[in-house]
Amino acid sequence: MTTRKPFICGNWKMHKTHLEAIALVQKVHYLLRPQDHDAVEVGVAPAFTALRSVQTVIESDNMPISLGAQNCHWQDHGAFTGEVSPGMLAKLKCQYVIAGHSERRALFGETDETVNKKAKAIFAAGMTPIVCIGESLEQKDAGLTEEIVGTQARASLAGLTSEQLGQLVIAYEPVWAIGTGRNALPEDANQTIALIRKIVGELGGAPAANAVRIQYGGSVKAANIASFMAMPDIDGALVGGASLDAEEFALIVRYRGD
Ligand code: PGA
Repeated sequence: MTTRKPFICGNWKMHKTHLEAIALVQKVHYLLRPQDHDAVEVGVAPAFTALRSVQTVIESDNMPISLGAQNCHWQDHGAFTGEVSPGMLAKLKCQYVIAGHSERRALFGETDETVNKKAKAIFAAGMTPIVCIGESLEQKDAGLTEEIVGTQARASLAGLTSEQLGQLVIAYEPVWAIGTGRNALPEDANQTIALIRKIVGELGGAPAANAVRIQYGGSVKAANIASFMAMPDIDGALVGGASLDAEEFALIVRYRGD
């Protein structure tokens, strides 16, 4: 049997100043109970400018909340104006870094190749990548979901060790479901996530496939999270818009309704 702990992570995108971010993480913490954290790993991924502040309040108040960044470069240092290195994020005690979010792929030219470099660099710096993959609406309508997601998974994860593949977090986020209010059907998401798990098995063996946590992302909210979490292969969620509201996010984390 699997022992994958669900992981629900807020992706705050380009929202919240560092002061607003402090208030948001404090409110989320206040709304969650110890048993919520026992059942679910809770994470937040603020903008770079808020990471230090959020990390400080997480640490000083002993919050059982994981910290993630939304992106990084794959090099350790160098003449890359405007970029942030994995080592810098590790020093800030980030545990996770999102790699290859569809907004970065669509708007900032990220490719499976750069996502792959980032995933390796994030591991090398002692953190865990959250590798995002997902098909566009045109691809879905053309019946290409499995092919596209399979290609992205193989290329983005190429060369990772079996151990890394087992530690990894993957977010399956259909592009058409992100920020649109139109979530995937839980059964469809589960089917695609099961395929991704199978590919991880081909790349890294059965133990890696069994251990890798694969989130669903795309218009997750309190009203639909339980239907996703009821699916056997879905191990959590990457939550955008709904994570900016502490009450809504806390309800998402408390999807079991106890
Ligand atoms: P959304 O975004 O929840 O606002 O759809 C999800 C994401 O982009 O990670």
